[in-house]
Amino acid sequence: MAEAYIVGAVRTPVGTKKGALKDVHPADLGAHVLKEVVNRTGVDPSAVEDVIMGCVMQAGPQALDIARTAWLSAGLPESVPGVTIDRQCGSSQQAIHFAAQGVLSGTQDVVVASGVEHMAKVPMGSSIVAGLDFPYGEGWGERYGRQEISQFRGAELMAEKWGFTREDLEKFALESHKRAAKAIEAGYFDREIAPLAGLSKDEGARPDTTLEKMAGLKTLREGGVITAAVSSQISIGASAVLIASEEAVKQHNLTPRARIHTLAITGSDPVYMLTGPIPATEKALSKAGLKIDDIDVFEVNEAFAPVPMAWAHDTGASLDKTNPNGGAIATGHPLGATGGILMTKLLHELERTGGRYGLQTMCEGGGQANATIIERL
Ligand SMILES: CC(C)(COP(=O)(O)OP(=O)(O)OC[C@H]1O[C@@H](n2cnc3c(N)ncnc32)[C@H](O)[C@@H]1OP(=O)(O)O)[C@@H](O)C(=O)NCCC(=O)NCCS
Repeated sequence: MAEAYIVGAVRTPVGTKKGALKDVHPADLGAHVLKEVVNRTGVDPSAVEDVIMGCVMQAGPQALDIARTAWLSAGLPESVPGVTIDRQCGSSQQAIHFAAQGVLSGTQDVVVASGVEHMAKVPMGSSIVAGLDFPYGEGWGERYGRQEISQFRGAELMAEKWGFTREDLEKFALESHKRAAKAIEAGYFDREIAPLAGLSKDEGARPDTTLEKMAGLKTLREGGVITAAVSSQISIGASAVLIASEEAVKQHNLTPRARIHTLAITGSDPVYMLTGPIPATEKALSKAGLKIDDIDVFEVNEAFAPVPMAWAHDTGASLDKTNPNGGAIATGHPLGATGGILMTKLLHELERTGGRYGLQTMCEGGGQANATIIERL
């Protein structure tokens, strides 16, 4: 059986919408992590067979196949192609899956999986309004009607279905901030972050937030429970993960740090939109022949607090092992980049703690989720 190894994983610090990265061009953000993953692993860049980059809002400065633009902007060889993909919030986790599948199939030996999103320069929704019609046509209308399809509604529906109160969500968010503040202070992310524009730490963390402050915020919709404090932030960032075959590891003298153990992807109700991590985790564990308690660290994207909370409730996963250094509520969610950011965090946390198995999962627009299990070496 062929193996696909993670030999490098790096990310930018995650910037806030008006912070240090606001003027960095998205292609330069992407270029930064691509250059870093090449330099840090020591791989011959001309041996890279493809650069797969997740990016959700492929408009304006993120248009025209930003994987290609970013690689060329980094000064890397013109002979290496690039492709940009969209699986919504899980785009760069999907890039990791595609890269691993290329290697596992024996058709490629060295592939970069990456992601980028500048949510200030290309705001959410930019690609929706770029055309002459909206994404949902007749067939969709016949199947789902004209009800609102949005992540904000999905988050409210989940909170209601699982019975989470606003205070439950705020307690979860507070813990995310506490964990992130501790990890930043202790320097846990320093090895994985490639500083940029004078920024070396995740910018969105609010070490001084409290339940009282959160309770004072307005809900996003009347009668709802979702506020800015229990939502992921609007962010700027990029990530890159280098995946290589056994043969490439030997040939290029690379150091395998983890192996790709199991890949799973599922669809779920597109109206609830955000419940996919539950079936995706179940599918990944079943394919892997592992139990939930066999996993040492989970990274479950905190798109909104009800997502990891419902996931933990239904899968039986321990919240102590989930997002141990905080998540997107505390440090942000630059859409297309987050899949690679979570993988970078997962790998480094397994290395820091000596854990064996890590599982990453994320909710995605359209009602989908990827789940990836890695085994640290
Ligand atoms: C929720 C959302 C709409 C809020 O946007 P916003 O209003 O621009 O957010 P801000 O960060 O400015 O926060 C709003 C206010 O809450 C405050 N706030 C946010 N989190 C807080 C916390 N933990 N503690 C205290 N105050 C907090 C901010 O300081 C700000 O206050 P101000 O208006 O006095 O400056 C936006 O973050 C969002 O869209 N998130 C989801 C992104 C998304 O959908 N991603 C895809 C996932 S499926």
